Amino acid sequence: MKSLAYHMLDIVQNALRAEASLVEMDVVEDESTDLFRLQVADNGRGMDQDTLQRAMDPYYTSRKSRHVGLGLSLLKQNSERTGGTFYIESTPGEGTKVRADFVRSHIDLPAIGDLPGTLHQLIVANPARDFVYRHAFNSRSFVLDTREIKQALEGWPIDHPGLRNDLRELINSYFQELNPGSGTSVIEHA
Ligand SMILES: Nc1ncnc2c1ncn2[C@@H]1O[C@H](COP(=O)(O)OP(=O)(O)OP(=O)(O)O)[C@@H](O)[C@H]1O
Ligand SMILES: [Mg+2]
Repeated sequence: MKSLAYHMLDIVQNALRAEASLVEMDVVEDESTDLFRLQVADNGRGMDQDTLQRAMDPYYTSRKSRHVGLGLSLLKQNSERTGGTFYIESTPGEGTKVRADFVRSHIDLPAIGDLPGTLHQLIVANPARDFVYRHAFNSRSFVLDTREIKQALEGWPIDHPGLRNDLRELINSYFQELNPGSGTSVIEHA
């Protein structure tokens, strides 16, 4: 079964294919409400009502290379399998928002997979796009924004091979803040 990180990659790739310049990812893990939320919002070309309806059909794809589009319908199916809910909203010319809520403790919750690695890969492979990645675990959270990173790099390209490890370490350090067991300092948000 696809991991949650793989689902995220899949949905972000849809956004990139829709020519989004900004993709916002939101991951929410909350033990008190037993929630694992995966949300991707983009400012790409969006879909009209008709295309949106067809997009949720597992046999529809606007891709020419293959005839079955599975990204969205599989994510919907996998979230609903845990007792969760799936939501998609799209406006032509404005963008698309996809939200999959999983029941976190359900036996059918997919493995989380490599979220930091996926994020790193997306940023390095698409230096001209911007990504905002927010991740909350109970009361702790972080936000990573490539627009801020690019500003701090003062003209150095974000995909520069010499910066690859630094970017990877930066991403890892954010994720470690969420995980009290990792020995790294913890930031509590009110
Ligand atoms: N963020 C988006 N913006 C605009 N159109 C989208 C977006 N996401 C999906 N679509 C449309 O919905 C269709 C179905 O998407 P889905 O991810 O299910 O399949 P696919 O991308 O075509 O194929 P696959 O994901 O299996 O490689 C896409 O072909 C595209 O036309
Ligand atoms: Mg897809």
